[in-house]
Amino acid sequence: MNLLFVCLGNICRSPAAEGVMLQLLEDKGLATNFVIDSAGTYAGHRGELPDMRMRNAARKRGLILTHRSRPFVEEDFERFDMILVMDDMNYESVVRVCPDRVFKNKICRMTDFCTKFKVDYVPDPYYSGHEGFEYVLDILEDACLGLLNFIQSKK
Ligand code: 4NP
Repeated sequence: MNLLFVCLGNICRSPAAEGVMLQLLEDKGLATNFVIDSAGTYAGHRGELPDMRMRNAARKRGLILTHRSRPFVEEDFERFDMILVMDDMNYESVVRVCPDRVFKNKICRMTDFCTKFKVDYVPDPYYSGHEGFEYVLDILEDACLGLLNFIQSKK
């Protein structure tokens, strides 16, 4: 199963989602069954490590984020089974480069897998304070667990 997490800059939300999901899969002994990656719909941070504020917040939860930002590309529709977007703007950007409508059902909203949080997008923490990054990680932990349960229920 190949999962791609997508946000705008690929330096806050989606690399954090990647880190949370990887840790969850490792904890459950499932990591070898998955390919996990992340990408951004805006290429301006290409090559950068995740934002220092997100790396610090993640490190406090035992997650070391080492992903380098890369833009979302059309070929990602072929390479990945599910494309998990953080908000509606990401959804629209990804749909815009979708080469064929058969791929469209690969695009999912990350928050659709939340079971505790009643939210319909993962808020962009870039212009927020420290609490914004913690809140994003809280939502992502909930969503990643729900996503894994969903995938396992489909087998
Ligand atoms: P992300 O956060 O989409 O969660 O990586 C952002 C990072 C950078 C910018 C916006 C959002 N930016 O405008 O540069």
